[in-house]
Amino acid sequence: MPDTSPIVRIDHLRLDRGGRTVLRDITLSVPRGSIVAVLGPSGSGKSTLLSALTGELAPTSGTVEVLGQPVPRAQRALLELRKGIGVLLQGNGLLTDLTAAENVALPLRMHTRLPPALIRRLVLMKLHAVGLRAAADAYPRELSGGMARRVALARALALDPPLMIYDEPLTGLDPIASGVVMDLVKRLNDSLGLTSIIVTHHVHETLPIADHAVVIANGGIVFSGTPSALEASTDPLIRQFLNGEPDGPIPFESAAFNSRAEVA
Ligand SMILES: Nc1ncnc2c1ncn2[C@@H]1O[C@H](COP(=O)(O)OP(=O)(O)OP(=O)(O)O)[C@@H](O)[C@H]1O
Ligand SMILES: [Mg+2]
Repeated sequence: MPDTSPIVRIDHLRLDRGGRTVLRDITLSVPRGSIVAVLGPSGSGKSTLLSALTGELAPTSGTVEVLGQPVPRAQRALLELRKGIGVLLQGNGLLTDLTAAENVALPLRMHTRLPPALIRRLVLMKLHAVGLRAAADAYPRELSGGMARRVALARALALDPPLMIYDEPLTGLDPIASGVVMDLVKRLNDSLGLTSIIVTHHVHETLPIADHAVVIANGGIVFSGTPSALEASTDPLIRQFLNGEPDGPIPFESAAFNSRAEVA
């Protein structure tokens, strides 16, 4: 029987940082196989939400379940859970003294006892999956920004995690490289049977590949629904965000939080 339970289940979550509540009353579930876009203006708490999924930040209240279990607090259990989560962070995080292949090999070296020849084969498969097999022996400085992002993506995939989390995967990329990366995220999600959560303020590049969109603003979820429902929304707050207007009828920072959002 295929597992139909959600891969992420967040229930009435509140997250505090530096003595301040960043997010409150977040309820969200992410179905297996889907691509969920988490959108919202800068500082709205998108990365904070991700840190609750990886166990970096403990909930003040509410619950977070990832891959069928509550996110553990004990270090060892947490490390085990994290093997199942591929994370692509904003800055790539590639080690500049290592080649592309050596960077992708890092998680395999750290978490498995596979022989070097097999690791090399797996690494080349991951690089092939992102279209960069030929760049295996190149150093990060020899790669374009888009290529480096794809190497980081291959590294995030190294341990075959069922869940992929992308935090601003398009930062610093031109429109063509952005298109390549988003296309890759979609193809990998579908061909490898992954589930992907993409945190971004690049709405227009991300919505075409998303099955579900969530908008975070003013400390909570202000929209949750399909990308087409989001684009059709007449809510002034949503319109302001989608159109990237600095000022609008409702300033993001001062609008009262209101949990209109019906959650998947
Ligand atoms: N380590 C921290 N300690 C205290 N406050 C923090 C910390 N990290 C983030 N914050 C605060 O939490 C709020 C949400 O930050 P977060 O980084 O989650 O936003 P974001 O939506 O990811 O923004 P961006 O789009 O700029 O990446 C901000 O007000 C920020 O100042
Ligand atoms: Mg962020």
